[in-house]
Formats: sequence, C-alpha cells, structure tokens
Amino acid sequence: MSDWIERDEPAGDALLLGADEASEVARWLGELAGRYPDSVSEGPVAPEVDRSWLQGLLREPIPEAGRPVRDLLEEFEGRVVPNACHVTHPRFLAYVLASPHGLSPFAEAAAALLNNSNSISALSPGGTAMELRVLEWLRGLYGFPAGGSGLLTSGGSLANFNALAAARDRALGEDARTAGLQGGQPPLVAYTSDQVHASVDEDFSLLGLGTDALRRLPSDARGRLRLDALERAIAEDRLAGRRPFCVIASAGTVTVGAIDPLAELADLCRREGLWLHVDGAYGALFVLTERHRDALRAAGLADSLTLDPHKLLFNSLEAGCVLFRREEDARRSFDFRASYIEEQSDPDLVDFTDLGPELSRSNRALKVWWGLRGFGVGAHRQTLERLLALAARMGERIEAEPDLELLAPVTLTAVCFRHRSVEPQALLDAVLRSGTAYLGPARVGEHQGLRACFTNLRTRPSDVDVVLDGLLEQAEQLCASG
Ligand SMILES: Cc1ncc(COP(=O)(O)O)c(C=O)c1O
Repeated sequence: MSDWIERDEPAGDALLLGADEASEVARWLGELAGRYPDSVSEGPVAPEVDRSWLQGLLREPIPEAGRPVRDLLEEFEGRVVPNACHVTHPRFLAYVLASPHGLSPFAEAAAALLNNSNSISALSPGGTAMELRVLEWLRGLYGFPAGGSGLLTSGGSLANFNALAAARDRALGEDARTAGLQGGQPPLVAYTSDQVHASVDEDFSLLGLGTDALRRLPSDARGRLRLDALERAIAEDRLAGRRPFCVIASAGTVTVGAIDPLAELADLCRREGLWLHVDGAYGALFVLTERHRDALRAAGLADSLTLDPHKLLFNSLEAGCVLFRREEDARRSFDFRASYIEEQSDPDLVDFTDLGPELSRSNRALKVWWGLRGFGVGAHRQTLERLLALAARMGERIEAEPDLELLAPVTLTAVCFRHRSVEPQALLDAVLRSGTAYLGPARVGEHQGLRACFTNLRTRPSDVDVVLDGLLEQAEQLCASG
C-alpha cells in the first residue's frame, strides 16, 4: 500500500482551510458586503471591462500548485469587482434583476457550508422543512387550497418548464410516461398572448410539442390576453381535430408588466377543461401590495403558478418557484424512483426530487426563509409599494417631457418609452457609456424603445430624475452630432 494511504489523515487535508484562515475569509466577506454597495453607487453602473485582465483570465492554464488565499481575496476586490456589472447600483434598471436583501449573500454561504441536498428529505431535514414552509407561505398569498405542492427552482424559466411538463403529461394521460408524444393522440395545442416570455416558446420546443403548438394570440391595447380571441381559437382548433390542453397567462408580462384577466381565464379554463398556467415570474409577488392584491390573488385559481423570489422577494440568484394546485400533477411527471435512492420515510416531509427534474438541489430556501423571517413580510410590502411609486413617478415625468413618449401604461414597475428623434439603441448605449444608468431595450407594438424596470431596492426618487436628466442630455448630444 502506498505510504500516503497508510498515514491516518483526512483525505482532503490539502483542500481545507485552517480555522484561522476560514475566519479571516468570513471576516473579509462581511467587510466587503458592508463596503460594496455604497462604494459602487456613485460610479458607473457597468464599468468598462479591463480587456487585458479578461484576456489573461480566459487563457489561464490550470494551475498545478495553489496560491495563498489572501491573493484570491485581493484579486476579487481589486479585479473582479471593478470588472463587474453592478446590479446593486441604484440606477441598474435593466431586465428584471433585483439587488439582494441584506441577509441573502450570507444565507447562500451558510447553505453552502452545510451543503445539504434538498432532494431527499433524509439528506436535508431542516432544509426540506424550511422549503416546505416557504412554499406554504407563498401558496397562502394566493389562497391555494390544501393538497397542492411546489418547489423552488433555479428561476422562472425552469418553473415554467416544470409546470408545462406537468400540463402536457396530464393531457397525455396514463401513457404520458411510457409512450410520450408517440402514442398516436391528436396534436396538443395551447394558447397565450403575443407578450409571453420567450422561455415558454423554449419549453414547447424542449417538451417535444413544438412552438407551432403554441398559439400566440394578439393582446389588447394594455398588453393583456383577449378572451374573445382565445375562445375563437379554441373553437377553431377543436373543429380541426386538435386537442387544446393549456392556457398560459401572464401576471406581469415581461416587457410592459400587463396582468392578464386571471379570474376570467380561470373560469374559461374550467369550462373548457384546460390547464391554466400563470407565469408570474415578474409580477406575481406584487400580490403583497394593496393596489394589485385582488387582481393577482386570482392566480390562486390556476393549476400552476410561476413566481420568482430572486426578483421581487430580493433574493440573490437563484430562487424561482413553481406552485401546483394538486401534488399528483407534479408527481405524474417527476416521481421516478431508482434502486439507489432511499424511500422517503419522514411523514412530515417530502422528497423534492419527486416533484421536479433535479436530483442534486441546493438549499435555495434558506435565503428566502431568512429574508421573510428576518425582515418580515411588512418590509417586503413597503419596498414593493415604493418601487411601484418610483415607476409611476418616471411615467409621469416622461408624459410631461415633449421629447419622450410613453409606449405603454405603467401597470407594475416596467416603464417603456422612446425618444421621438433618437434611435433607441444609440440612446441606450450612450446612457450606459456615460455611467448614468443601465436600461434595457423594449419592443412595444410597432415601436422599438427603452425600458426601465424598478426591481432594485436601492433606487431612490432622486435616481429617477438623474436617469431622465442624463438621458435627455445624451439625446441632445446625439442629435447635435447628427
Ligand atoms: C414573465 C417572465 N417569465 C419568465 C421569466 C424568466 O425568469 P428567470 O430569469 O428567473 O428564469 C422572466 C424574467 O424576467 C419573466 O419576466
């Protein structure tokens, strides 16, 4: 036997930190977390990347020997941070990407310390219990009845995938697992609006249904799915021998934040025997606010609902969520047992591997659980109300500005607009280059424009003015330079 195996030492000593070193890293992280948000808030949102550092990083050979931990920490602060896009910057307003609540980065580290897999309850009893509790709290916001389930996912895209897989399999019936789509049944079709998120198209492709099976119906002037168009399309498909199986509604469309008429859609789906999935990745959590509570609580009438705790519960990536009205719908698609996996034995818990496609799953629940318990739902509600007010303020200022045009009513926190005489991409680039703000592109009807989405808990009312003043100044310079 080799001499190294005879020595009674842990196998991985060479990969561990000593207690002092571990404390030093933890202290460094704590201090950085305290410094970072303020230190970047006055600089550019997305600093110019140091190309030579990036090229060096892209070409670095795998190192045979290690280096002092301190070097890595110094490199992180000295190189990685200055080359990052600062999502926590108060004027980062692109996409639907939140700055995390104060406990979230530490919850990530604490969960990683235990490295429990929230897949088989015996491997993560506490983690499973906190995920179950978080899911129950979320279900309660929409009034889902008992007997349902759900799980935390990597994000809204995967939550939509899980829901649509379950919808497909319910429609295919008993043969879903064995015959799949090859069982010779009439083709399945589903309905949504032309505002749906691209992940749904991707899901139709991945699920073997094909994107042609997704009918994208024209939305109304506020970007909402039209019931008359939906009823007509269902009737036409039935007449042609196809099998309508699902309606995908949006609770906050990705571009303008429109909320489809959820209660009416739930009624129609019940009448027609269709699965209703609500994609609320962007907007469903505005159910916490006074203004949107009633419209969004109707998402609890759906068969499945996507929402994203890494957006409007302000958790760091990744924490999406899918809720199912009936647990058996998730099990039909995802409960595959293997001889090398122990049977679930704890009557108080579930094995999340039976409710979704992943086996190894990190504990995504801790940061959501800490966020809600540490700050309370009241603080979340107050933050969401403030974000709605910021978006409304920006909308009002745009309407008062003769050179700007609002492209859609402001429903949630997405503000889509254009400059009447400057090409939107040129303006987006100029605003970003000037360091003022990071905005996103938006297409609304015939118009290409810009989009500011308020999901950032560090944004102040004065930032709205800084963004618009800076944008108008950049537009003037672009006009002057022809
Ligand atoms: C309506 C909608 N659905 C799905 C998604 C995808 O969510 P994720 O980025 O968490 O995968 C988004 C993202 O912004 C969204 O706005």
